[in-house]
Amino acid sequence: MTDTVRIVEVGARDGLQNEKTLIPAAAKIELIDRLSATGLRSIEATSFVSPKWVPQLADAAEVYVGIAKHPGVRYPVLVPNEQGYERARAVGVDEIAVFTAASEAFNRRNINAGIEESLQRFEPVMARAKADGVAVRGYVSTVLGCPYQGDVPVADVVRVARALHAMGCYEVSLGDTIGVGTPSKAAAMLRAVAGEVPMTALAVHFHDTYGQALANILGCLEAGVRVVDAAVSGTGGCPYAKGASGNVASEDVVYMLQGMGIDTGIDLDALSATGRWLAQLLGRDTGSKFTRARSGAE
Ligand code: HMG
Ligand code: MG
Repeated sequence: MTDTVRIVEVGARDGLQNEKTLIPAAAKIELIDRLSATGLRSIEATSFVSPKWVPQLADAAEVYVGIAKHPGVRYPVLVPNEQGYERARAVGVDEIAVFTAASEAFNRRNINAGIEESLQRFEPVMARAKADGVAVRGYVSTVLGCPYQGDVPVADVVRVARALHAMGCYEVSLGDTIGVGTPSKAAAMLRAVAGEVPMTALAVHFHDTYGQALANILGCLEAGVRVVDAAVSGTGGCPYAKGASGNVASEDVVYMLQGMGIDTGIDLDALSATGRWLAQLLGRDTGSKFTRARSGAE
């Protein structure tokens, strides 16, 4: 593998949405500005969801307006419905992500809608995005297991991913929301989806709950995926997924890819310094093994 991989940095959204203590908008802006200087090309900035559901990201508009947008860097935001779309557009957002799941039970808890209902809810959002020239990414959650349903049939993942792609999502990110997947299952799931959606339009999104995230990513890279979601300092989790813990740490993914000779365009030292800064802000150790190892060695 000598080609390139694009990392979609989700720390400012997935990483912070699960934090109980409210973080000031200025700190969120500083996080994104620091990330923008690392060479990342996709930085998920925030979420225009209901502030009653995710109080931490109630300041989405303030954060989006406050960040210094670097040329060539995309700053997608999560949008669950038309109301979110309007709030996002009001501050000039030009890329959004819609999200649903392969499990009915999780979807109801997370967005108060069944899978079909959620897809219908996206239709007007997709139509408006197309008319406005707004790019749309799609997420499928619980692709390798659900905290409420248990096993999730691969056929359900394929069906939902295909629906999002057919509806106009330029990329569909496959989320192991509670980190239960293992490499061969992850690769098999990805291959099954790639039978219906081009591999070039797929991304993987692993939480590291069971310590499998890097192994799962490697399995999926070998299966052909070239877009990987990750969160600086290994932050993250979904407040509506029992047992969901941090995302794979971006620093550790970049370290692995560098070791494999795969270019990401990211300055690992700058990313690691940002992760250390964030960990300090959150008052805990970094979740990046790379950063811990390097700090110990210094
Ligand atoms: P609902 O309660 O069914 O919505 O929630 P509603 O339409 O009945 O509205 C209820 C109230 O919310 C109303 O206010 C609306 O105005 C307001 P009230 O009249 O009571 O004062 N409202 C909004 N306000 C601001 N922005 C909006 C908005 N929508 C409604 N966009 C809803 C449905 C989808 C809104 C809610 O369930 C929600 O916001 N859920 C989001 C949950 C969430 O953010 N989860 C985490 C992200 S997903 C994730 O982490 C997984 C991922 O990382 C991949 C992976 O790991 O698998 C992506
Ligand atoms: Mg997630």
